[in-house]
This record gives sequence, structure tokens and C-alpha cells, in this order.
Amino acid sequence: MPVPPDVLAEIEDLRRNLEHHNYRYYVLSAPEIPDAEFDRLFLRLQWLESEHPEAASPDSPTQRVGGSAVEAFPPAPHAVPMLSLNNAFTDADVEAFDRRVRETTGAETVEYAVEPKFDGLAISLTYRAGVLVRGATRGDGATGEDVTGNLRTVRSIPLGRDGPRLPDVLEVRGEVLMTKREFDRLNAEQRTRNDKLFVNPRNAAAGALRQLDPRITASRKLSFYAYGIGQVEGGAAPSERHSGLMDWLQELRFPVSDERRVVSGMEGLLGYYRAIGERRASLPFEIDGVVYKVDELRKQEMLGYVSRAPRFAIAHKYPPEEELTEVLDIEVQVGRTGALTPVARLKPVFVGGVTVTNATLHNEDEIRRKDIRVGDRVIVRRAGDVIPEVVRVVPSDGTRGEEFHLPHRCPICGSDAVREEGEAVRRCVAGLFCPAQRKQALLHFAQRRALDIEGLGERLVDQLVDRDMVRTPADLYRLGAADLAGLDRMGERSAANIVAGIGKSRNTTLARFVYALGIRNVGEATARDLARHFGDLPPLRSATTDELMRVPDVGPIVAQSIADFFAQPHNAEVIDALKDEVRWPIQPPVTASGAPLAGVTFVLTGTLPNLTRDEAKQKIEALGGKVAGSVSAKTRYVVAGSDAGSKLEKAQALGIEILDEAGLLELLEPCVSAEHKAKEKE
Ligand code: IVH
Repeated sequence: MPVPPDVLAEIEDLRRNLEHHNYRYYVLSAPEIPDAEFDRLFLRLQWLESEHPEAASPDSPTQRVGGSAVEAFPPAPHAVPMLSLNNAFTDADVEAFDRRVRETTGAETVEYAVEPKFDGLAISLTYRAGVLVRGATRGDGATGEDVTGNLRTVRSIPLGRDGPRLPDVLEVRGEVLMTKREFDRLNAEQRTRNDKLFVNPRNAAAGALRQLDPRITASRKLSFYAYGIGQVEGGAAPSERHSGLMDWLQELRFPVSDERRVVSGMEGLLGYYRAIGERRASLPFEIDGVVYKVDELRKQEMLGYVSRAPRFAIAHKYPPEEELTEVLDIEVQVGRTGALTPVARLKPVFVGGVTVTNATLHNEDEIRRKDIRVGDRVIVRRAGDVIPEVVRVVPSDGTRGEEFHLPHRCPICGSDAVREEGEAVRRCVAGLFCPAQRKQALLHFAQRRALDIEGLGERLVDQLVDRDMVRTPADLYRLGAADLAGLDRMGERSAANIVAGIGKSRNTTLARFVYALGIRNVGEATARDLARHFGDLPPLRSATTDELMRVPDVGPIVAQSIADFFAQPHNAEVIDALKDEVRWPIQPPVTASGAPLAGVTFVLTGTLPNLTRDEAKQKIEALGGKVAGSVSAKTRYVVAGSDAGSKLEKAQALGIEILDEAGLLELLEPCVSAEHKAKEKE
């Protein structure tokens, strides 16, 4: 039965509309309509399509969520071969590249279009008459696999109904990848299902792309960034500059990297390499380098190709974040809370830009799950400033060492090490009687964000505790330069400096002091809240769990930890001794109503355009607001940036007000001036 023209028109309209809102949401991160409205349009389209099956179309937005499964992926020949890039590992390699470009083109300085090298999979998207008709993997460069159904599930890939007119045939190339956040989410899900974990986002993306059932691909949310074009027919693409081509792709609604730039000469290239390198760990996706392309297309042509790579482009790689090495030994460290942490001693290996010799193995379960043993060949990973970790064992034929078990006695003090029911860690029960815990407690007490005692480092604390010169933080204040002078590597001058550092720490704040005590479950933020709420130490020390729970964000577990801590006679003794040594200004207690945002809880999610998460948090907390980690009925506002995930969904489900960055600043602005005025009055 033919579809009535008015119904067909509505269907077409809905499809265009949905693609438009999809683009606003997934590419621009700037939705124009609430999700509920999107859902309404979507359901309407689904219903019309089911009533009129003749109008169905594989490229309808309703088909993104999952077309039907396939038996195998058909071969997908590439009209224009998909090449690879040559690599540069050192500045000298880049210099040689730039020199050759200058020599061949006769230019004095060359302009380069530069962008991150996404660590994903190269794909090709073909649009005919403005509609996505084929999505293919790179394969061997000449022929890939047709994975159209899977690529349609990638929300930022335009299906091509809405937006500017495309050439009759347009092939867009780029990289499909999985964000770090989605990778973590997926692996957490795999873990709860006891399924195999993915090694890295790239592997996870590759796995998702090669699913025969697109519904599985759809559930593992992939991202896409365009970086070039292939075939173009019946229409023109910009022909002057690569950067112009990228701007054009952006106008055609393809996602392109916000990090792309045009730079000039060697200095520009290396400056970009360093700038992106510094931000590598905080980018939402993994990169393994940056790509430099001669910007002028005329010059690109002059340079041409060598075998399977262009001469006009090069990938400048960063040191890998994962490397192969060997476990020499597994040792056990005892932390501040008595937790026994297994640590792998590794054959030194250069990874993530530094030489790594140790990696944390987290806890017993983690070792068991990864089955790590002495002598194993393993992959270690160090990304950004994160502590290096062993990702997995590389199987080999030889016989293996024995399974590792954590000792049931503390390796430092010999006391029992107990693993409580439901806990992942085994702990030494000796508390501050265990020298290892005492050392860690002292280091914690002295750290920058606590009492900030300059010069009191690990080596000094080891000696002070091993020689029984210091048992508790209070003992530090009784040390004189003469006591220190006899220690290893301690000149008169450094001894005097340390005594001065200790002296300086006598003036502190209550928040720092509370944090410095090292109460279980009390971090910096909670310490600040407690200090604000109670104003001075005596009321905090004597507070009941009920009273403690009146402090914003302090729940029963934290309250119990605090009460337990102060109830310990040993702790009371140390605090009494410290009271005579350190002082802080006493503030009037601030209860719920004082600050402009007191009692208002925010949740932050996604990446904000200008503020870092810490900055946003500071702004909120400065006005007495709270920032919580998860959305609950107590949440008043959710501040959402790009790539916001399940928290945003939950907020929407609960009908919680959602702000973008501008909205947050607007909300804070009058509060800031109110607080300012109040201060002026004081
Ligand atoms: S341009 C002639 N730009 O790197 C090839 N490639 O080693 C032109 N890649 O297969 C590629 N990010 O999968 C280009 N910004 C970027 C890229 C990029 C990642 C990948 C791509 C390619 C491989 C080459």
C-alpha cells in the first residue's frame, strides 16, 4: 500500500529534525530541546514507520540503535587507497621532515595543519546524494570491511538528512574511537558480569566495530573524528588548504578535532607537540602522537607519496604509555591505614616518558584476577601522572612461578593482617604501633595539604621512627637542631631548616589540622566541612555521630569513622599533646544557612568548555555549596558539559535542573556579589 503523501512528508520531516537534534547533542554538545522532546519525536517516527513499513529506510535515525545482525562483513573496496603515515620519534626526525618539505617546495617556512593522532581505527564513510550509504574499515588499505550497520550506531556520524548539501559522492575519512570514560564504564560493566576486560580503548573500539550484531556496537558508545576526504564527485571540496577542508567538513556537520591548529615551521610543530603532550592525559580520548600535514594542498601535490605513505604528512609519536617488561619480585608495602599493598618490582622499562621500576598490584583480588606471578612477562602502563600499573600478563611457554598470596602477618611489625568480610584489602591491625603506619601517618601529617612541614620527607621520617626519636606527630615539635644533626645526610644547615619548617607549621588552620590527623574516610574536603561546621576542635571531638551527620555530605560511615577516631585513647593523647603545640584561628561555626549556597548540592559531569572540574568545584564550595559525586534525590543541580554520561541521564530521569557552564556562572554571579557585599560590611 503506498504511503499517503502527508504521512511521508511527516516521516521525512521527523527524520531531518531528529538528525538535526542529534547533531546539536552529540557533535556540538549544545542541545536545543529537552531529551523528553527528542524521545517524543523519536517515538512518533518509530510508530509511523511501523504503521507504514513501505516507508522504512536503513538510514532512518530509528535504525541507529541497531539494524539487524549480519553473517559476515562484505568486502569494501576503496576507490582511493587508504594510506598510512610515516612516524617521527625525535625532534631530529621532525627536522629532517621539515627540511625535505622546504627543499621540495622551495618554501622558506612551511605552514602545517596539525592535529592529534587519535588512537582508534581508520574508517571511510561514503555519502551518495547526501545520505550515508557505506561505512568501511581500512583493511589492507585497498579493501576494507563493510561495517555500515555498526557505524550508523555512532551518534556523531551524520546519517546525512539534515544540514548543507553534500557533493553527489563524498567520502569522509577519520578515526573511530572510544573515549576513556566510555572505556572505563564498559570495563566496569564487564567486571560485574565477570566478562573479559578490554586492554585499552583502542581494542575495545575495534571489538565494538567488528560486532556482527549492531545492537552490541550501539551499546558501546563509539566516537568519531574526521581528518580528511577520499573520493569526491559532482561537487567541489575546498582545494587550497587542508585547514580549509577541515573547516568545510565541520560546516557539513562532521565532528572534527577542536585541537586542530595551523602552525608555522619547526618551532610551531614542536611547540604544538609539547602543548598537546602536556594535556595528553587529560584529553577525553587516547592519542599516540600528533599529525603534521603541509597545509597548502598545492604543496602536498608537489611532495607526493612514497610507497604507502604521503611525503607531505608525518605522525610525531609520544612515548608509549604501555610497555613489555618482567616481574622481578612482588613485595608488600604497608600504608597509612595499615593496608597491605602488593607492589611489583619490575625490570626497569621506559614507559610514559619515565623509567618505571615498580608498579602497584592494588590488592589480592586484582593479582588473582590478572594472575600475576614472579618471573612473568607483563604489560605495564603509565599514563600521565597516574601510578604505573600492571595491565596484564603476556603468556609464555616456560614454567611459571607460584601463585602469590598476601601474608597473614604484617611484614613490618609481625602483627596480624586481617581481611574483613566484604573488604578488598588486608590490613595490619597494629595501628600506630606498627612502624610502617607510624611513618606514613607522620608523612601524611607533614604533607603540603596538611601541616605543610618543609623538608620532612621519607628518608628523614624513616630515620626518626627507626631510631625511636619520634613516635607521634606531637614529638616532632620537641625536636631541636641538635637532635637532627646526628642523622645521616644531615648538615647543620638542613637541621636548622627543618626545625624552622616544623616551627612554621605551628600556625595552621583547623581544616588542615583535621585533615592531617589522618582519620579514615576524612579527606581534604570533609576536613574543610567539619572545620567550617564546628569552628573549633573541642565541639568536633565531642560530637556524636548524629551531630556529625548534620555536616553536609557526612553520612553514617564517615560519622562513625570520626567518632571512632576520637574515642581511641591513644589518639586522644596525641591530640592533647598537639593542642599545646599548634594553633589555628577559631571561626564562628557556619551552619546550614550562613553561606549563599549552603545546603545546595551540585553534581558535575562531562567536560566544561572553560572551567576545569576543580575550578568549578572551588567556585561552588567557595560559596558554601557542595559538590557530590553521584546524583541522588538530594541533588539540586547537575552541571553538564560535553560527553556527559549516565549522571546526566539519571538527572533527567529524576527531573533535576541541569545547567551548562554559562548557567552555572550565571547562578553563582549574584551569590558572589552577595558574599562580597557581606564581607564589605564586616
Ligand atoms: S591523516 C595518508 N590524521 O593514523 C593517511 N591520520 O598511521 C592520512 N590517524 O591510518 C591519515 N589520527 O588511522 C591522519 N589526525 C589524523 C589521524 C590519523 C589518527 C591514524 C589513521 C591512519 C594512521 C596512520
